[in-house]
Amino acid sequence: MLDQLESLYEASLAKLGDVSSTAVLDTWYRDTLGRKGSIYLMTRQVGQLSAEERPIFGKRINVVKNELEAAYSARQAELKATELADKIASSAIDVTLPGRPLTTGGLHVITQTLRDIYRIFGDMGFQIYRSPDVETDAYNFELLNFPPHHPAREMQDSFYTENPDVILRTHTSAGQIRAMREYYPEPVRVILPGMCYRNEQITTRSSIQFTQVEGLAVGTAITFADLKGTLTEFARRLFGANRQTRFRASYFPFTEPSAEMDVTCFLCDAKGCQVCKYTGWLEILGSGMVHPNVLRNGGYDPEIYTGLAFGMGPERVAMLRYGIDDIRQFWNNDLRFLKQF
Ligand code: PHE
Repeated sequence: MLDQLESLYEASLAKLGDVSSTAVLDTWYRDTLGRKGSIYLMTRQVGQLSAEERPIFGKRINVVKNELEAAYSARQAELKATELADKIASSAIDVTLPGRPLTTGGLHVITQTLRDIYRIFGDMGFQIYRSPDVETDAYNFELLNFPPHHPAREMQDSFYTENPDVILRTHTSAGQIRAMREYYPEPVRVILPGMCYRNEQITTRSSIQFTQVEGLAVGTAITFADLKGTLTEFARRLFGANRQTRFRASYFPFTEPSAEMDVTCFLCDAKGCQVCKYTGWLEILGSGMVHPNVLRNGGYDPEIYTGLAFGMGPERVAMLRYGIDDIRQFWNNDLRFLKQF
């Protein structure tokens, strides 16, 4: 029986060596050292032995039991460690992988340009005045001194709605009357930014939608000198301190006199380049003294009040600043273009 014990011991140890998971290990324990396990069953056979054999066998079986218990614990620790290591390896985050950056948004180049313009006029005391993109013919044309069927309307081809009196504004000047009527009788000093729409042929230089920033100041002692001073200061703040400006006579129905402002080319410092077409000057905006009829339509008596107005296109400003040669890029929503700014 001692022989039987020894071979059981050997076999159990060998089996333990083959156990490959803690689940199988539990089975091994139950079958070997458990309450109905093979070693226990052997202890119960002690009664069949002679009185001399009994203590020898008893001693030996105790040793075997202890040895197997110890081997079991060691194996258990080993398996737990490898199982844990496997688990870590399979579920771990690989911190050496390069991260995936989140795509961050940015301000549209025109928004940036608008903010530059707001800052300068803000310093001069102009407030931003918002007026609608969808306008009536009255605000866009009639109250701005464009008589019905006057050929000057053809300067700006409009998008009409089903209601012939409702159009998409062709210029931000449409908000002039709204601002005056709201401010009257206080002095007005506002800029009106926003999208404008014209039914024009789309080219690299003209688009059916574009931004404008209008300026309007109405008060009791505003002169053409204020117009020149304000706009020259603006040009220097935006394009550089040593820029010069010149005013060329022009025509708009809602201003009299009217003038277009040029600024010395900031790309070549007025030496002459492709952008300024070798003239040294860049055309920046339209302007003038508010026409008496327009003042009257806004509620202000032209015998008492005068005003200055101007309008510029931020797309054009951005094109000049960044050397952009196609105005259609601004509203194509091509990220390869937009991300450059
Ligand atoms: N509204 C004019 C345009 O779109 C610009 C302008 C504004 C001219 C204000 C004079 C005064 O061309």
